[in-house]
Parts: sequence; C-alpha cells; structure tokens
Amino acid sequence: MHFPGIRFFVHRSSFAFCILHSALCNILLLCVSACLLPGLSCRRDQAYTPLYQPTPYAIAIPKFFPTTLNIPPDNPMTVEGIELGRYLFYDGRLSGRTEPDSLMSCCTCHLQSHSFVCGIDHPKFTGGHPFGLTCVLTPHFMLPMINLVWDSHGYLWNGKVSAVNPSPAMRNLEDVTWMAIVAPHEIHGDTARVAALFQSLKGYPELFTRAFGSSHVTVKNMGRAIAQFVRTLISANSKFDRFMLGKEHLTSSERNGYVLFMTEQGGDCFHCHGGEGNPLFTTNLFYNNGKDSLFTDPGDRLSVTGNPGDAGSYKAPTLRNLSFRAPYMHDGRFKTLDEVLGFYNSNLVWSPYISPLMHHIATHGIRLSPPQLADLKAFLVALNDSSFIANPAFARPLKFPDDN
Ligand code: HEC
Ligand code: HEC
Repeated sequence: MHFPGIRFFVHRSSFAFCILHSALCNILLLCVSACLLPGLSCRRDQAYTPLYQPTPYAIAIPKFFPTTLNIPPDNPMTVEGIELGRYLFYDGRLSGRTEPDSLMSCCTCHLQSHSFVCGIDHPKFTGGHPFGLTCVLTPHFMLPMINLVWDSHGYLWNGKVSAVNPSPAMRNLEDVTWMAIVAPHEIHGDTARVAALFQSLKGYPELFTRAFGSSHVTVKNMGRAIAQFVRTLISANSKFDRFMLGKEHLTSSERNGYVLFMTEQGGDCFHCHGGEGNPLFTTNLFYNNGKDSLFTDPGDRLSVTGNPGDAGSYKAPTLRNLSFRAPYMHDGRFKTLDEVLGFYNSNLVWSPYISPLMHHIATHGIRLSPPQLADLKAFLVALNDSSFIANPAFARPLKFPDDN
C-alpha cells in the first residue's frame, strides 16, 4: 500500500482496514463502470435500458413433428433476430442498390402466396422459372420454404449447403444469404456494398445492435437474421394435420388416398416423402425418381458427392402446399399435379441410377386406376395449409425501419 493514511490504519486495526479497503474498491468499481462501460448513464434521472437484451424465441414444435431442429449454437433464435431477418428478407435494397428497377431480395422470387416459390403464374418469371437481377436464369426451378428448420441433410436441390461442405461458409441457412447476393443468377451483387448501404439506412444499425449486440452491419449478421426468420416458416395446419389431431375428418376419398400413399402395392410414396410418423412429408434425402435415362445437369447430387450413383438425384421436396407451388420438379417439367401423378403412374424411365425405392419400375409406374389416382390426389390436396400462406408473421412488413 502506498497511501500513508492507510498504513496507519493497517497498523492499528485490520478490521478498520477491511472496511476502508472495500469502500475504496467500491469507489474504484463505480468509476470504472461510469467511465469505461459505454452506454452506462451517469445521469441519475434516466433509467438505463441496454439495447442488446435479445429475447429468446422458442420454436413451438407441433405435435408429431421431430424434436431435432437444425439451429446452429452460434445463432440462437431471438425475437429481435427474427424481426430484423424479416425486414431484410423483404427489403429489395439487399441488392446494394436503391433505384426502383434495381431492387431484389429473397421476396422477389420466394413469395408467401406460393409457399415461397415464385409460382407458375408469375408475371415476370415465365412458367415459374426465375432469373436474377442481370437476367441470368437460375440453374434450377424453385424450392419452397416450408419447415426448413427440420432439414439437416442439406439445402438446395442438390444439398450443396450442408454441414459436410468443405467450406465453412456453405453449411447452413445462414450462408444462403451471401450466396444469393453474389450469385450471377440471383442478385449478382457485392457484399461490401450491401453492408455499407444498410449501415447508412436509418433504423437498421439499431436493429443490428438489438439482435446481435453490434451496430456494425455485416453480411454475416444479415445471414444470421434471415436464417432465423426462415426457420420460423412452419406449416403444421393442413386438413391432414387437423385430422391427425382428431379435430377434423377426412373424406373417404382422402382416406383412400392416404392408404395408397402409405402402401407399397399402392402409390408407394412414403419411402421418400414421409407420411405416418413423418409429418414433414419428406425425408429431406436425395433420390433419382426415374424421369430420364440420360443425365447432363451439372448441378445434380452427383456434383456435390462425386458419387456416380447420384447422377440425376435431387432432394425429395415436401409434399405440403403442392397446390400453391407449381411447376414441379427441379426443372419445372410438370405444370400440374395431374401431370406429376401421370408420371408416377405410367411414365417411369429405368436407368442404372434410379433409386431402388422406385419399386414399380418394371411396370413403368404404380398403375393405379383413375379413381385411385383421384383419391391419391385428394389426399395430397389435404396437405395444403392455407393458414401458412396467410400468416401475417411471414408476410411483408407494413413498414421498413427507415419509413416514417
Ligand atoms: C432470383 C430468384 C431468387 C432469389 C432472389 C433468391 N432465391 Fe432462394 N432459391 C431460388 C431458386 C431457383 C432455388 C432453388 C435453387 C437450387 O437448388 O438450384 C432457391 C433455393 C433456396 C433455398 C433452398 C431451400 C431448400 O429446400 O433447400 C433457400 C433456403 C433459399 N433459396 C433462400 C433464399 C434467401 C434467404 C434469399 C435472399 C437472401 C433467396 N433465397 C433469394 C431463387 C431465388
Ligand atoms: C425414390 C424416392 C421417391 C418416391 C418413391 C416418390 N418420390 Fe416424389 N419425388 C422424389 C424426388 C427426388 C423428387 C424431386 C425430383 C426432381 O426434382 O427432379 C420428387 C418430386 C415429387 C413432386 C414434385 C414436388 C416439387 O416441389 O416439385 C411430387 C408432387 C411428388 N414427388 C409426389 C410423389 C408421389 C405422389 C409419390 C408416390 C406416387 C412419389 N412422389 C414417390 C422422390 C420420390
């Protein structure tokens, strides 16, 4: 100790020393807090509320749904993160530009009314095939955004964005954002420019602070926020879901269709598209479902795994909300559900790459009668969830952070 006074007390009484010592420490602590910690108010008349106090958001897992969610530990779901993600998803300035004809964000192609595909009736994307800001067509048609928080096998038709991608920047939903910003067939932009633009937009830096504790806008945090929003896009309220919960009856045609869907001698759909015990209506795995005999797409599953057996294989999409999402398959070759059913019924093509789960290949299809096909279709239509496409929490925000 270097204070003469203190030495005096120490000599006199260790008790007095303790009191003085703790008092000094408290004063020191107060000084440090007041001077060093930014934002801690020195003024007594203002109640201090820190900006970064994220509110945890727990996904309510619907009954019968799997309990394993694909949420990385470094991006927990928060109310503030989801709110920011929703703004960004719908803000066309994600292109890094502000001119009306240069706007593009996720919502340009992923429309809620179509279960987040662009739809066969899109005024600009003829037949449902979107193109990017510089008019380059996307290599494949679209995938919907439904229940993606349960997909741990890989995103995109070929599953390239997955936990086993050698690049740590291509492993989860967080990463799809920068990929969309730079892809020539999407925004074809520049990540630094986008971050700088959002840094300059009133309201956004504060939202980044609330969500991530820093007002510094980065594309990484944009991706984290958008991924959080995308993980909330849950569909679990179709007629079939309500039937499973004992709240609604299926018609006899829908019930027959369900049985056909679930039996090998019938439609034999369940191996790849879920069903009883798997209400996602997909395994989220990759198969060649027998559409062709020659495979030339450089972006199929083979391009990701290098395994020759994966030629012509793609992710089996969920069968929820089919009525809102035509056209079908990675190349949009089928315009209606009837065309898809006609294909599975009698037009299967053999190749060495066809999935062994396509059990009816010897007869080129499942060979159901027209009434049976109608039943199967009725069941598929019972998987539509109109509350999903009407959910206001998934919709374009009424105002953006810099709107007055
Ligand atoms: C130009 C249109 C377009 C834009 C803009 C776009 N997407 Fe997509 N998105 C697609 C297409 C097409 C696919 C299917 C691509 C493929 O797998 O080949 C896709 C696939 C996806 C998937 C994979 C879904 C699955 O089941 O695996 C996710 C996730 C996704 N997009 C998120 C986003 C996000 C987030 C944004 C905004 C940052 C965005 N997309 C912007 C067209 C677009
Ligand atoms: C061996 C696995 C497998 C079986 C069995 C199977 N499918 Fe598929 N299904 C797939 C794959 C893989 C795709 C995507 C293929 C592509 O895009 O090229 C697909 C695509 C679809 C699509 C289009 C979805 C979209 O968003 O584009 C529908 C509808 C469909 N299947 C319905 C059925 C029905 C009904 C049955 C039973 C009659 C069935 N599938 C049996 C694997 C399978």
